[in-house]
Amino acid sequence: MSILKIKNLNFSYNNNKKVLNDINIEFEKGKIYGIFGKSGAGKSTLLSLLAGLEKTKDGDILYNDMDVDNISREKYRSTVVGIIFQSYNLLYKYTPLENVILSMNIAGIKNINKKEKALELLNKVHINEEKANSKVLHLSGGEMQRVAIARALSTSAEIILADEPTGNLDKANEDEIITILKNLAHKEDKCVIVVSHSENVKNMVDKVFYLENGKILDN
Ligand SMILES: Nc1ncnc2c1ncn2[C@@H]1O[C@H](COP(=O)(O)OP(=O)(O)O)[C@@H](O)[C@H]1O
Ligand SMILES: [Mg+2]
Repeated sequence: MSILKIKNLNFSYNNNKKVLNDINIEFEKGKIYGIFGKSGAGKSTLLSLLAGLEKTKDGDILYNDMDVDNISREKYRSTVVGIIFQSYNLLYKYTPLENVILSMNIAGIKNINKKEKALELLNKVHINEEKANSKVLHLSGGEMQRVAIARALSTSAEIILADEPTGNLDKANEDEIITILKNLAHKEDKCVIVVSHSENVKNMVDKVFYLENGKILDN
């Protein structure tokens, strides 16, 4: 059964130019998907809609067959989806540990040892305790993105959305990030959706969708 469904989705911003045109896709748990397409094709817009950052106007997004518009935005964004951006979007003056714990606090997570859970997640993405306690500012790009992945996982989100997560990284770091995301799908049964430009990423995902002028091309 699919965890996330896009049904007859059309979208335009206020200027009325159609950015997404009749999109229909079903995503399952345990798989990693790639969405590819030229700059301006509508990839980030699609991901924003899936993330609940942008509201649907025409067509539906269903999470476990429930219309996402009928679920509390806050709950959906803080517990169902985890988001990873090209530019990491971390709090640079804080430590990785603080970044992950803050995200748990925002999600209202209680009754667990948050520090222990955060260290465990950081450890999973190969950030050791010493790194976890030094400022994000001092980390490399690859390390920052791994912290962002730990943060996305901190609320036990079932769906991980990544917008060009390796856009600022070299090939070795890209491989590492995609391998981590792939393992989350294959070993932890997450549904992972990655927007990318990279041929290398294309070869690492389970299924590829191409977006062109707002439409999904048959492949
Ligand atoms: N907030 C916005 N307001 C108006 N137009 C936007 C906005 N964000 C993106 N667009 C337009 O929507 C189209 C798709 O953009 P985007 O989804 O960012 O594409 P991609 O991520 O594939 O490069 C582009 O024409 C872009 O200019
Ligand atoms: Mg984009």
